[in-house]
Amino acid sequence: MLVDLEKAVMLILDQQIVAVPTETVYGLAADATSNIACQRIYDAKQRPTFNPLIIHVANLEQARKYAKFNDDAIKLAEFFWPGPLTLILPRIESDISEFATSKLDTIAIRVPDNKIFQEVLAKTNKPLAAPSANVSSRISPSLAEHVNKSFLGKVPVVDGGKTLYGIESTIIDCTAKEPALLRYGFITEEVVSDLLGKSVKVGTTSEKINAPGLLKKHYSPNCNLRINVSKAEPDEVSINFGDSNLVSAKNFNLSPTGNLTEAAANLYSMLQSAEDFVRWDKLAGIAVAQVPNEKLGLAINDKLNRASYKT
Ligand code: TXA
Ligand code: MG
Repeated sequence: MLVDLEKAVMLILDQQIVAVPTETVYGLAADATSNIACQRIYDAKQRPTFNPLIIHVANLEQARKYAKFNDDAIKLAEFFWPGPLTLILPRIESDISEFATSKLDTIAIRVPDNKIFQEVLAKTNKPLAAPSANVSSRISPSLAEHVNKSFLGKVPVVDGGKTLYGIESTIIDCTAKEPALLRYGFITEEVVSDLLGKSVKVGTTSEKINAPGLLKKHYSPNCNLRINVSKAEPDEVSINFGDSNLVSAKNFNLSPTGNLTEAAANLYSMLQSAEDFVRWDKLAGIAVAQVPNEKLGLAINDKLNRASYKT
């Protein structure tokens, strides 16, 4: 169900949830200071309440009301915010609902770089909790229609077109001396470690919380998904990359020119479309060609690995 920005602001002030675009994926936004509103996010996503939400604020100054920034965190925030980076930091006592942070003594916080999201922040004048606007463990949304599909049209959405980066923010844990990358995203470990002038641990789960971006099964279509495929079956949907030449009933290409940024931006929308074709045409599943495992390809492969995980 589409709503305009004014309506979205009203709904959030009324402690309701609204899907709002960010530069990464659509977020399921609600007033982070309201227990009821945060509970509504967990219910809609069917997400366990021990799995905390990212708090979105307008700028670094706002973020400093809720989190303790060390030197690394300040450097990262000044360089990348607004932008696709989430920082895990020690939490400061505040009016943020303990539901949003799952009663942890840390907080996940970011400043989104999207005009619509920033307007909602300004007009509600609230910190907003916003996980990706999809049912837990399923494909994330890069279009308003993906949100409608996920929640059967029951969650109001502000349509901001296709999201710029198409994959979730990079998560960096800055609570220890050595920063740790907890979730791959558009900002790579290399860039973070260059900026900070120190090494960054990769793929470590935080001690207290097993971030679901790091769960084995995540971002999954509701059908079979094969990855690193060199020969697709005729009754599959193929997703190619560059000059790979998988040929099936229906064929997509993440980036015909082999551009990883373009591929990341198309990843979820092509998985979403492929999932629809499999269902409509009763096909066997999705076959994805190999994507180079370097730079942004690390994030793409990380998502694909989890999406293809069989329980
Ligand atoms: O790009 C994004 O980050 C999107 C847009 C909407 O902003 N949001 C997003 O939120 O991806 P979500 O809830 O789908 O993912 C949040 C991740 C989860 O893996 C969660 O476990 C982790 O952040 N997280 C939240 N608080 C944490 C904490 N205190 N320590 C460690 N991980 C935390
Ligand atoms: Mg998510």
